[in-house]
Amino acid sequence: MNRDDFKMFLNNPDLIYFDNGATTFKPNQVINAVVDYYTKYTANAHRGDYDISNKVDTFYEDTRRVVKDFINAKDESEIIFTKGTTDSMNMIVFSFMKYYLQKGDEVLITKAEHASNVLPWFELEKEIGIVVKFIPLDSNYKVTLENIQKVVTKKTKVISLAYVTNVIGDIRPIHEISKFAHQYGMLLVVDGAQSVPHMKTDVLADDIDFLAFSGHKMLAPTGIGVLYGKRRYLEVMKPLEYGGGMNARFESTKDLEYKELPLRLEAGTMNIAGVLGLKAAILYLKNIGLEKIHKYEQELKKYLLERLKEVSNITVYNEKSEAGIVTFNINNIFSEDTSRYLNHYKICVRAGNHCTKMIKDDLGVKNTCRISLYFYNTKEEVDKLIEVLQNSDKIYEIIL
Ligand code: ALA
Repeated sequence: MNRDDFKMFLNNPDLIYFDNGATTFKPNQVINAVVDYYTKYTANAHRGDYDISNKVDTFYEDTRRVVKDFINAKDESEIIFTKGTTDSMNMIVFSFMKYYLQKGDEVLITKAEHASNVLPWFELEKEIGIVVKFIPLDSNYKVTLENIQKVVTKKTKVISLAYVTNVIGDIRPIHEISKFAHQYGMLLVVDGAQSVPHMKTDVLADDIDFLAFSGHKMLAPTGIGVLYGKRRYLEVMKPLEYGGGMNARFESTKDLEYKELPLRLEAGTMNIAGVLGLKAAILYLKNIGLEKIHKYEQELKKYLLERLKEVSNITVYNEKSEAGIVTFNINNIFSEDTSRYLNHYKICVRAGNHCTKMIKDDLGVKNTCRISLYFYNTKEEVDKLIEVLQNSDKIYEIIL
């Protein structure tokens, strides 16, 4: 689908890129938006009174509206631009939760979470004495409401989960979890890094309190991401960064006033090119349709799983998951050797622990190879992968 829009395919005709969970290629529309900014109207945002700066302001704030509509937020002031999911998660934890939570309060995560939904919580545990607990995963490494209920206590204040996990690729029942969490006065934080690029997001319908996601995993440039939060929570967030752009005034008497949302949480010159690229990326995705993308990826994954069954010495770890992610190993072969072998045939997959270092407790294996699909991948690419895997008895002849 739409491969002609991606110069990466034109410039690398033999490349098979199956590492979209790490980052995606960028279509011409996104690259052009960035080039236009740098060649036709470079200026800072929210600081100039001249035409090109006004144009930057308009386009920058247009993007906020586009993001708001894309995730169905109530108000554009609930959209904060960040560096990416990690930045957004750190803001949620250290700008809000640090003051909202108290010693002994419990936060529920799982062992399948990415580092950005683990390490900020572990640090907060050290800093203020919250207790991070793990929701047990079922036999398919999924989260169920029943398992959440097993670990919830009166002290549980937050549930923080990826919508789609980056190794297992399961789609969490966030709608159901949200209802449960709110019924008991808990907050729901959602890491949308692996879901927002691939399926429709509706923060209102799912009643999500905080959502974090990255632009670069959804066709936009690196270094741009989004923090969504319900206005009443963002309003009381203590900024992590202070400086230009976020203050309304300050005096030598040290009397000062910060701006209203959203600018109060966007200190310094932001990644303007990234913001403008993100707008082009979202318009591009909307033009194809998120439902169509999701359906296409699911069909391609089904095809991939069927074809992988033809390869005798492969273990697939996440056959029951819903998103376009397949995690596997060639039996008795170190995942990075498999990845190097595939690289010999210009096939890109990710190998290792994928920044999800605790899932090994459940999976029983530390390192895996991951195929993460996007709408521009094809059945022909899957066929080529299978052909190469079928000849993997030659792996050490090839890579050594
Ligand atoms: N979080 C990214 C991944 O899963 C980098 O590959």
